[in-house]
Amino acid sequence: MSSKHAWKVDLIPWDHRSTEQIARLYEQRVACGWMAEEIPSFVKLANKGGKVFYWVVLADEVPEQEILLKRHFVKYPKEASPLTDTAGQVRLVSRVPSEQQFVPIGHIALDIHAPEEDEKLGLPRSGVVWVHQLYISYALQSEGFGVAAMSKAEQLATSEPLNASIMAVDTMVKEMHMDAAIQKISYDDRGLPRPTKSNEEWYMRLGYQIFARTKEGYKKRHSSGTIALEIAFLKKSLH
Ligand SMILES: CC(C)(COP(=O)(O)OP(=O)(O)OC[C@H]1O[C@@H](n2cnc3c(N)ncnc32)[C@H](O)[C@@H]1OP(=O)(O)O)[C@@H](O)C(=O)NCCC(=O)NCCS
Repeated sequence: MSSKHAWKVDLIPWDHRSTEQIARLYEQRVACGWMAEEIPSFVKLANKGGKVFYWVVLADEVPEQEILLKRHFVKYPKEASPLTDTAGQVRLVSRVPSEQQFVPIGHIALDIHAPEEDEKLGLPRSGVVWVHQLYISYALQSEGFGVAAMSKAEQLATSEPLNASIMAVDTMVKEMHMDAAIQKISYDDRGLPRPTKSNEEWYMRLGYQIFARTKEGYKKRHSSGTIALEIAFLKKSLH
């Protein structure tokens, strides 16, 4: 079901062959605080028709765009120039890029995992699309843009070439996300405001349900070491 926020953003495919778009994704991963060092592997995956990133862009109908974008540029001056829609392929399927300029306020990645991996987690071997690397500019959060990006991503997931019936996502468990030590590393030390809700609760509000957990999730690097994250896996039926 589409959200009341869905109209607020459009998703434009990341052009993994564009130097500017590779550099912008790097900047946004740095701002997000996760996996900036993974950009070369994201390019390789895109070349093989694997994980695909989309830029989150304010829809034309959003009022006071200039004010919103100025807020984003003040916080992230390196993101002040527009990009051009040039991606000629999505998962190796040709598309005609619009060549229009746009300013991304975040990004989201969609991926299909190996059937064995999904099966191990109790999911069907096909029809599952995973959301990864969802990020909305810290200057523009809590305005409904993250929910809108998820809603548009769900629409894409049910369409060609993904044709999914289930959307899945993994995220740090609520107890860990809201833990004071984690919040210090993730937010205080980076000059960011602490969130009022965990990502786990945020996804549940969007209709996602937890179906598995693991204590051996991702390793998060921070200024004084690494920390192993406990992960919750959530899914939502798209039919
Ligand atoms: C997680 C993230 C994408 C959310 O984006 P956002 O644009 O701030 O989120 P939105 O403004 O769209 O969310 C609004 C919704 O949050 C939900 N929400 C608000 N308070 C909530 C609470 N206490 N509990 C659960 N959900 C809550 C509501 O559904 C609200 O929608 P509503 O207006 O219909 O009530 C963003 O915070 C982000 O980029 N964080 C950093 C990276 C990250 O953690 N990504 C997720 C990785 S798994």
